Amino acid sequence: MSEFPEGFLWGGATAANQLEGGYKEGGRGLSIADALPGGKDRFKIVSQPDFDWTIDEAKYTYPNHEGIDFYHHYKEDIALFAEMGFKCYRFSIAWSRIFPNGDEPQPNQAGLKFYDNVIDECLANNIEPIITISHYEMPLNLAKRYGGWKNHYLIEFYENFARTVLTRYADKVKYWMTFNEINSAAHFPVMGQGLVPSNGADDKKNVFQAWHNQFVASAKAVKIAHELHKNIQVGCMILYATSYSYDANPANQLANLHHNQDFNFFCADVQVRGEYPAYTKRLLAEYGLAFDDLETTDGELALLKQYPVDYIGFSYYMSTAVETTGQNTDTVAGNLMGGVKNPFLKASDWGWQIDPTGLRIALNELYDRYQKPLFVVENGLGALDKPDKNFHVEDDYRIDYLKQHIQAMAGAVADGVDLMGYTPWGCIDLVSASTGEMSKRYGFIYVDLDDQGKGSLKRYPKKSFYWYQEVIKNNGLEK
Ligand code: BG6
Repeated sequence: MSEFPEGFLWGGATAANQLEGGYKEGGRGLSIADALPGGKDRFKIVSQPDFDWTIDEAKYTYPNHEGIDFYHHYKEDIALFAEMGFKCYRFSIAWSRIFPNGDEPQPNQAGLKFYDNVIDECLANNIEPIITISHYEMPLNLAKRYGGWKNHYLIEFYENFARTVLTRYADKVKYWMTFNEINSAAHFPVMGQGLVPSNGADDKKNVFQAWHNQFVASAKAVKIAHELHKNIQVGCMILYATSYSYDANPANQLANLHHNQDFNFFCADVQVRGEYPAYTKRLLAEYGLAFDDLETTDGELALLKQYPVDYIGFSYYMSTAVETTGQNTDTVAGNLMGGVKNPFLKASDWGWQIDPTGLRIALNELYDRYQKPLFVVENGLGALDKPDKNFHVEDDYRIDYLKQHIQAMAGAVADGVDLMGYTPWGCIDLVSASTGEMSKRYGFIYVDLDDQGKGSLKRYPKKSFYWYQEVIKNNGLEK
């Protein structure tokens, strides 16, 4: 018998801005992701005080513009997902395809038509579509003209967007998520909140205000969804990186407690429990702020309480370690999350510390805290794949990573955790979010495309494709 419940949602996950391409087709407007240069320095460039979202093709490359051209290949790609046996496919809707500038009252019909087709194609292949309403992009106009999510108007624009897509797909799509990795703004507010230094990213008050506006917008989406269809379930989506105290030093233990509250739990606490946690006071005080410094209304706070999310979606790639005494300063190169090096773990080529046991811990911690169903909506290994002359990739390292994480999930299910499903990230190779590279690949399907945008765009199943097919067929790993 499988360790996983019947109907467990095995599948894969992607995001519009990282795979669709067609960035100017079908009336789509520009999004903030279109203005992020490709390459390892992506975050350094957007952190410069003079970065103002200008797209400078003479100076930079923009791999997101073409993505892997899912816009024209979606049928072929969904057929490959079906061949693997996917029960579900998590993808996001590009806001700027539906509202090109974000602030128009009426949606762009061509944009909606594209998602009609994608959803119908999934359903025709017995794949349950799972939608992230906003995944690391918003119409560029909303960042440039309104200053991103710190502006209260964004709530109204998002509500219009969410109502449009929820209403259109309420009968076809049961599982939704409101914002991808909402807590990631603690480290990089550009993608989730549209904040860069030139529009206020360096002032933490803006980040907290943006979060508040997003919490309200998320609660509104839950309200709309529940009113539309009693079966719809709307989740939050957080970036969870299990965090350890570096050692038994109480100072490190306390720092780790605070790190967990501030990073892993803060957003979920509000979205799941419907109210700001008590430690909000300490957290804001660390930036010289008080709750009254934020613009909030009683009506908004009541809305948060009334419309919490139904489940918790989260990504899990790695763990971190916290050390506050300054005695261990050895950090992991490339890891944007910060933290010190954990001597018990190995890291990926990009410095992400690989820790399957951390996933079992995460599942237990989250379930103990919230007692709501959990969904691992991202997990995977970004690696440099080396295809042979027939474009076949023997990605045993990926199989090994995924296998260990599936074992950890099975352990958590045996512990009593209510786990809904598993959608490994980038089930087909796509553009990396943190570095804008094609060469950081996660997929079961190799796409012939390089960092310079060269390649045939042909798709080739990797060894892991056939391995995952078996996992799904067996509803878990073979004993
Ligand atoms: C998550 C994001 O942070 O991790 C995805 O939700 C992202 O958009 C994924 O692609 C992997 O990160 P990266 O930087 O390796 O693409």
